[in-house]
Amino acid sequence: MTTSFEAAPLAKRLPQGFVLGAATASWQIEGDSAGRGRSIWDDFADVPGNIKDGTKADPACDHVNRLESDLDLLKSLGLDAYRFSVSWPRVMPGAKTASEQGLDFYDRLIDGLLERDIMPALTLYHWDLPSELQAIGGWTNPEIHKYFADYATLLGEKFADRVERWATLNEPWVSAFLGYATKIHAPGLGNPAAGLEAAYRLMTAHASGAVALRAAGAKNVGTVLNLTTAISDDPKVDHIADYVDLLQNRFWLDLLAGRGIDPLLVERTKQFTDWSFVSDQQLAQISKPIDWLGINYYTPFRVVPVSTEGGAWAVGQDFSLFPGTPAGGQMAPREPRTEMGWEIHPQSMTTTLQQTASRLPGVPLYITENGGAFPDNLVDGKVDDQDRISYYHSHISAVADAVDAGVDVRGYFAWSLMDNIEWAEGLTKRFGIVHVDYETMRRTPKASAEFLSALAKAR
Ligand code: FCB
Repeated sequence: MTTSFEAAPLAKRLPQGFVLGAATASWQIEGDSAGRGRSIWDDFADVPGNIKDGTKADPACDHVNRLESDLDLLKSLGLDAYRFSVSWPRVMPGAKTASEQGLDFYDRLIDGLLERDIMPALTLYHWDLPSELQAIGGWTNPEIHKYFADYATLLGEKFADRVERWATLNEPWVSAFLGYATKIHAPGLGNPAAGLEAAYRLMTAHASGAVALRAAGAKNVGTVLNLTTAISDDPKVDHIADYVDLLQNRFWLDLLAGRGIDPLLVERTKQFTDWSFVSDQQLAQISKPIDWLGINYYTPFRVVPVSTEGGAWAVGQDFSLFPGTPAGGQMAPREPRTEMGWEIHPQSMTTTLQQTASRLPGVPLYITENGGAFPDNLVDGKVDDQDRISYYHSHISAVADAVDAGVDVRGYFAWSLMDNIEWAEGLTKRFGIVHVDYETMRRTPKASAEFLSALAKAR
């Protein structure tokens, strides 16, 4: 397949040692729910209407049963690194004792990567909380960080000798605000007060998890946030875009940088919570240095004044996700957009990287997820996804722009290695650089996979 986007000139713009990889997450690809305990996503998927097309955990991409061939596939792409997540209920069913069978799966995964010379980048929590922990309040339980630390210790002791890069959480904003404040994701509470408390307690878990990982010998411990740029299209809504920026970006970076909780947030959320669950001791723990920060970036948040025309629809773009937002604005993603309704605006990835570097100075940054859902067509055994190649080309160029501007960006992971369960969108959205036929489970690398391979080779 040919493309008008050239890999070689882009490759030249990437710094020495820049890591190129692909990412996945356990619940989205693994299948084999019989081999593990239950998670909040299994419970959520059981309720009709929660997942658009009724998709459940099985068979997903049947990755557990296809581990070896998936690793061969990854190797054939020539990427440096693979970012995956561990299913907590697979290695600790019921969040209690360790499962040898579950640990063995990740043992084989990690060894299989190393044998193929691919760097393992492990995320502890990509949203599949054991159901038993949700039963005691989940991320609002004051002791949740202790459970998370036990889980981190288990993984650290088992894998610290072989895993080069560790992330505690994936996108705590999504866990807290799509899962607790609203009902878009599991566990689907729809309680803004719980969302705000979960946001804080997720970060206490990050802190305790990082301590536990390091005690077990893990190096290179970081975390992954979904950060973006909030754009105001009209001075009348500047304060609304600023509030979106506060909850989406600054809240997390302030905690990591030791700036605590912004008084504006406390003021604007007082109808929901008095934040009395915050403790100085925990704030100090959360601000302990991390070795790197991962940023998942897909799209900006564009805010305009409310109009009678109504805003354009986009997955996850709604002010109910930002408890306390001042009235008078609406989200208005512009064309061009992906199938998620997300505006394609690579410049916002550059500004997000620049902003993050100034808000959390001295911490190396990675793009740990970036990619797009597009309406793919499998024709004669090929998927010629030029729209996705264009997305990758413009966004990796945007990373290079940030590097040129002096930001310390060390790597980029495409979301996703393969088509998978896109959470509440089920199988209706394809983000893979590899196409998955859900009937036969056949994997077909798309033209975008060829483009990223060419980019990796051209360095
Ligand atoms: C991110 C998630 C990832 C995937 C992409 C499209 O928010 O981390 O699992 O669903 O969005």
